[in-house]
Amino acid sequence: MQQIAVIGGDGTGPEVIREALKVLNAVDQLFSLNLEFTELPYNGSRYISEGVTLRDSELSGLKQYDAILLGAIGHPDVKPGILEQEILLKMRFELDQYINYRPIKLYNNVNTPLKNKNPEDIDYIVVRENTGGLYTGEGSFTDKGTPDEVTVQKMIYTRKQVERCLKYAFETAEKRRQDVPFRGLSQTQLDAGYRSKLTLVGKSNVLTYTFDLWDRVLDELKSHYPSVLVEYIHVDACCIYMIDCPERFDVLVTSNMFGDIITDLGAITQGGLGVAPGANINPEGVSMFEPIGGTAPPFTGLNQINPLAAIGASALMLDYLGFPDAARCIDSGIQSAILKMDSMVAAKMGMGTDDVGDCVANYILDQGDS
Ligand code: IPM
Ligand code: MN
Repeated sequence: MQQIAVIGGDGTGPEVIREALKVLNAVDQLFSLNLEFTELPYNGSRYISEGVTLRDSELSGLKQYDAILLGAIGHPDVKPGILEQEILLKMRFELDQYINYRPIKLYNNVNTPLKNKNPEDIDYIVVRENTGGLYTGEGSFTDKGTPDEVTVQKMIYTRKQVERCLKYAFETAEKRRQDVPFRGLSQTQLDAGYRSKLTLVGKSNVLTYTFDLWDRVLDELKSHYPSVLVEYIHVDACCIYMIDCPERFDVLVTSNMFGDIITDLGAITQGGLGVAPGANINPEGVSMFEPIGGTAPPFTGLNQINPLAAIGASALMLDYLGFPDAARCIDSGIQSAILKMDSMVAAKMGMGTDDVGDCVANYILDQGDS
C-alpha cells in the first residue's frame, strides 16, 4: 500500500489534481499499485477563513505518507509571500526536500517557440537546489521607509547542502545514460569513456563566494563519476543556450534562485507551464510532486487549464515510488492525449481539462484491454 497525501491547494490546483487522480486510479487498476489518497485542505482559502497556514502538527503528519501530490499554492487575496513561505516553502524546507527535479522535455506535436528544434533537441533535466540560497528568507531592513533605507537578502549555502545536491545531480546524470549515451557528446568524449554530461550553472564571476564553493565541491566529486563529463557555465549564457542550442544539455545543476528562473524559461521551450512537472525530493524522506506552474487565477473553475503538468508530476511520483512501468504508461498516455489536443495553452486546448484527463486515463485503461 502506498499512502499519498493530496493537497489540491488554490486556484486551478484542485482541478488539475482531480485529473491526476483520475489517471492515477487508472494505472492503479492496471498495475495493481494499491494507492491510497488522503486529501488535505492546506491552502489560501483556509488561511483566509481560519487564519491558519500549515500547523506544525500537520507538517509532521505529512511525514507519515509515502509521497505528497500538490496542485498549487497561492491566493490573489493574500499578500505575496505568506502562503509561499508558510505552506509551500515550509514543506520543502522542513521536509528537507533538498532537490527540485525538473525535466525539460518536448513531447511530439507540441508547439515550441524554438525554431527548428525537435523533441530530441529539448530533453534535459534541471536539478535545482531546493533548501538554501536566497530562499532561506534571511535578511533585514534598516532605516525602513527612509531615504537611507538598506535591505539585505542573504544567499546562504553550507558545504553539506552543495555537496548533497551535486551528488544527486551526478547520480541523475549517471542513471539517465545507463543504456544509451547522451547524443551531445563528441566521438572523442565517447572514446574517453563519457556517457553523460553535467553542467553546473552559476555566476562565479560575480557571486565569488557562493560559486567558488560550488565549483570546488564539483571538482572534488567528479573523480567518483568517471562517466560524467563536467562543465561550468554562467547563468546568463545558460539562458542563451537554452534557446539557441538546448541539445547541448543533458543534466543541469544550479542554485535555488537560478533554478527557479531557468526552469520557467525551460518550461516555455517545452510548450509552457501546462506541460511542466517537477518533484521536490528528499531521497531519505517524503517527497512532493507538483506541476511547476502556479494557481492560474484567471482560469480557476473554467475547465480550461491544462492538467498534463499535474499528470506528469504523478508519473514522476510513481517512478520515484518504484513503479517505473506505471510511470512510463502515464507518459505514453500524456503523449497520446497531446496528439489529440490543439495546444498546450489554457483555453486553447480544443477540449476541457476533464477531457484531457479522460484521454490519458482511457489510453491507460485501453492498455489493459489489449
Ligand atoms: C516554483 C515557484 C515557487 C518558487 C514560488 C511559488 C515560491 O515559483 O515552484 O518554481 O519560487 O520556488
Ligand atoms: Mn518558479
